[in-house]
Amino acid sequence: MKSMDALVSLCKRRGFLFQSSEIYGGVQGFWDYGPLGVELKRNLKDAWWHDMISGHNELVSPVGAPSTFEMVGLDCTIIMHPQVWKCSGHYDLFHDHMVDCRESKKRYRFDQVRGRFVEYQGKKIFVSTLAEIEQEEDEVRRLGMKFFKLRAKNADELTVEKESLTLDKLDSTENVLAPDAKTLGTLTEPREFNLMFKTTLGALGGEEDTTFLRPETAQGIFVNFKNVVDSSRVRIPFGIGQVGKSFRNEITPRNFTFRSREFEQMEIEFFCHPNQSQEWYRYWRDRRMAWYTKLGLSSESLIMREHHTEELAHYSVGTADIEYAFPFLPEGEYGELEGIAHRGDFDLRSHMEGKLDPATNPMTVELNEHGKPKHRGSGKDLAYRDDITNEKFVPHVIEPSAGADRAALAFLCEAYTEDEAPDENGKMQTRTVMKLDPRLAPIKAAVFPLVKKDGMPEVAQEIYGALKEHYNVFYDAKGAVGRRYRRQDEAGTPYCITVDGDSLTDKTVTIRDRDTLEQTRVKIDDVVSEIQSRMKANA
Ligand code: GAP
Repeated sequence: MKSMDALVSLCKRRGFLFQSSEIYGGVQGFWDYGPLGVELKRNLKDAWWHDMISGHNELVSPVGAPSTFEMVGLDCTIIMHPQVWKCSGHYDLFHDHMVDCRESKKRYRFDQVRGRFVEYQGKKIFVSTLAEIEQEEDEVRRLGMKFFKLRAKNADELTVEKESLTLDKLDSTENVLAPDAKTLGTLTEPREFNLMFKTTLGALGGEEDTTFLRPETAQGIFVNFKNVVDSSRVRIPFGIGQVGKSFRNEITPRNFTFRSREFEQMEIEFFCHPNQSQEWYRYWRDRRMAWYTKLGLSSESLIMREHHTEELAHYSVGTADIEYAFPFLPEGEYGELEGIAHRGDFDLRSHMEGKLDPATNPMTVELNEHGKPKHRGSGKDLAYRDDITNEKFVPHVIEPSAGADRAALAFLCEAYTEDEAPDENGKMQTRTVMKLDPRLAPIKAAVFPLVKKDGMPEVAQEIYGALKEHYNVFYDAKGAVGRRYRRQDEAGTPYCITVDGDSLTDKTVTIRDRDTLEQTRVKIDDVVSEIQSRMKANA
């Protein structure tokens, strides 16, 4: 299993990720991308935007697609009319279950606190902890020993069960030792907690001025559906994509950036005829899975988890999650990277008629105690008229919804590799290398003069200048060349170009491949086209 600690330390050391506001002690659930991280995440979002939106050819039907289709983009605001969140269902339903500890006054997400049963002299208790999975067993043992006041020499008298469980899997919390408590049974019953961040519009600050930071980018797309249809002449089937920040006040943000309070989503709302929605659902599910493997996630670490029929809303024919075996999860467990959901006509109709009641079939508007819509819709007609058949209908929606930060984390986890490579003296040494796909790599190539004399820096700088017009490249003339290679391996740079003594006479340089370590001599004049053709081969 890859070590999460080693990856987290590399991310900080090399400038992929920093804790937000670190000099003030940090703030939980918020992360900053450093100079390498920002390039990685930008490359990831650009790859998504290109592959899903700008590079899509609407004249050709892609393999597996029921027909040709169009794709356009949007960039909506983070703060929207408060009614959006009432009709979308987030105001009433977007919550997690949390428990409070009466002793420590801390609050936890019920389904995310893990622990194990421990037993001492016939007394069995459940010890919970927020420790990462790698440290969990040791931490449970330490807390169990402390609870039973055992000394190190009596450690054998305490048994710790192998199975790790979350609190929601227990019948009762009576015998639970909460993560920060000294006594048993201090946790309250689980309660609902809305995850939306509240904010206030304007200076008056009354209840009617309350609105929310968006918890998903999707709603901006639904409320602009008519604007897009009227302004861009798209015809169904078509998709609208958006990349942007979302905010959720997660109760227990954890596992590095996996569960953050501020994160970015890459979402598509794909509008189609209700009769074709099943086919489109299957198409998007398979297409999105293939996107991750093409960019380097190994298919052994990825699964497609179809939701069971009882998990689905009745209007939905399917929802599937693409999940990755993140190293911080127990063996055999996977974390969600993306959800592909069939949302029927729930969203467009809710924004038209008023929030629908998902428990009704066919769905009707949810009413309050006065028999009026609980949350009023916009009253705008969001139905679509096919200009060829003249049929009018409310489109069904397939939603592939991905997290940019989770995807970046998965690619970082997958890329982290320790292998052996010879140093400058030919001695084998352990090297840390980030085997990122060249499309995602923050730096595409590094250019080194072997030494800082004999005209080598001048030649190297010329090559650097020529490459910089196309790619983010790096110039480094400092220190032993072996050490310069190692730094680029850790940054995930796929190619290193070295100018040496021969370069001045035979006008060639070496290109070293990060993964194979193969060194090829290439004419100086061909360096740019060589890097371009290697980058294209990987695209
Ligand atoms: N519009 C549908 C929607 O938002 P979701 O499953 O709640 O669906 C979609 O979120 C994706 O957003 C997830 O698969 C995940 O990649 C990402 N995501 C959700 N919550 C997140 C969080 N707290 N931190 C990081 N990424 C998150």
